[in-house]
Amino acid sequence: MTARKKDDVTGVETTGHTWDGIEELNNPLPRWWLWTFYATIGWGIVYTILFPAWPLVNSATAGMLGWSTRDQVARHIAAVEEANAGVEAQLVAADLGAIREDDALYSYAVNAGAAVFRTNCSQCHGSGAAGAVGYPNLLDDAWLWGGTLDDIAHTVRHGVRNEDDPDARWSQMPAFGEMLDPDEIALLVAHVQGLASGGDPLAGAGGALFEANCASCHGEDGRGMREMGAPNLTDAIWLYGGDEAALTETITNARFGVMPAWGARLNEAEVRAVATYVHQLGGGEEPSAE
Ligand code: HEC
Ligand code: HEC
Repeated sequence: MTARKKDDVTGVETTGHTWDGIEELNNPLPRWWLWTFYATIGWGIVYTILFPAWPLVNSATAGMLGWSTRDQVARHIAAVEEANAGVEAQLVAADLGAIREDDALYSYAVNAGAAVFRTNCSQCHGSGAAGAVGYPNLLDDAWLWGGTLDDIAHTVRHGVRNEDDPDARWSQMPAFGEMLDPDEIALLVAHVQGLASGGDPLAGAGGALFEANCASCHGEDGRGMREMGAPNLTDAIWLYGGDEAALTETITNARFGVMPAWGARLNEAEVRAVATYVHQLGGGEEPSAE
């Protein structure tokens, strides 16, 4: 080993590195820096012992404190649920029609219902509830199965034409392609288009076919029948479309729209909240007097 060279001016050892005749001094690292550095190493070791840290094949070391982000989320959710437990109990206990009379409860129901709707309903009915082909608009006054709070809650709880719930709303328009010939169907298509612009439901050859095949569900006046979920054909509001192609398809093959039952997936408070939310969207009806 060769003795290190010392700098003449400071008397400090040099590292031997030289740039353009300037030599680097081998000063020790500052104390404060070194201790901070050691402290971070110590902190790192303690941290990996206490908290989840080192990756294993399928998981990671758990850490002695047993802390996990999953538990933390669960605790936060539990805290929110606890905070809402009172108002949710109120929501479940209240008479459905009386929710509206309590301002605080009503505004909770509408807000919670909007959240339930965004998560569970918007993929079919649209985020603004305006519906799509085959999925009814929930903003208007045209109801297939009824627009009172009780009607809506029933539809949500049990769904429509699903096999999972024995109380699902059920009806089935026959596929008339098996019963009528194409000329008759064409006549009915024209007849149904006429109904939407104020035509007489029972007039002419189309009217006779309508009376014989369709009036049992859609009514002699063509205004539909809620017990059957049969749409009003006179309002020019179409679930599946009012042009010739759509109507020919509907009458020839029928449609059979299915909605899942939510009674088992949502809790009672959520069902009531979302029914309240849908009811106040614009088309909500009041129960009739009798
Ligand atoms: C998988 C698609 C789908 C989802 C998800 C869905 N629905 Fe529906 N919903 C339908 C269909 C299809 C119909 C119409 C069935 C028919 O032809 O009668 C319907 C009908 C309805 C009706 C009856 C409308 C009327 O005119 O009587 C209401 C109310 C309703 N849905 C509310 C909801 C709510 C609230 C949710 C969320 C909790 C929801 N739906 C989720 C498909 C869906
Ligand atoms: C057994 C009851 C029943 C009978 C009979 C019936 N329908 Fe329907 N119809 C329905 C139901 C229920 C719907 C709702 C659509 C679904 O199944 O999703 C419907 C839907 C329709 C629609 C779609 C309306 C829209 O908004 O898109 C048209 C059009 C229609 N029916 C015409 C007819 C005609 C024409 C006849 C006679 C040839 C007829 N229906 C007979 C029950 C019936």
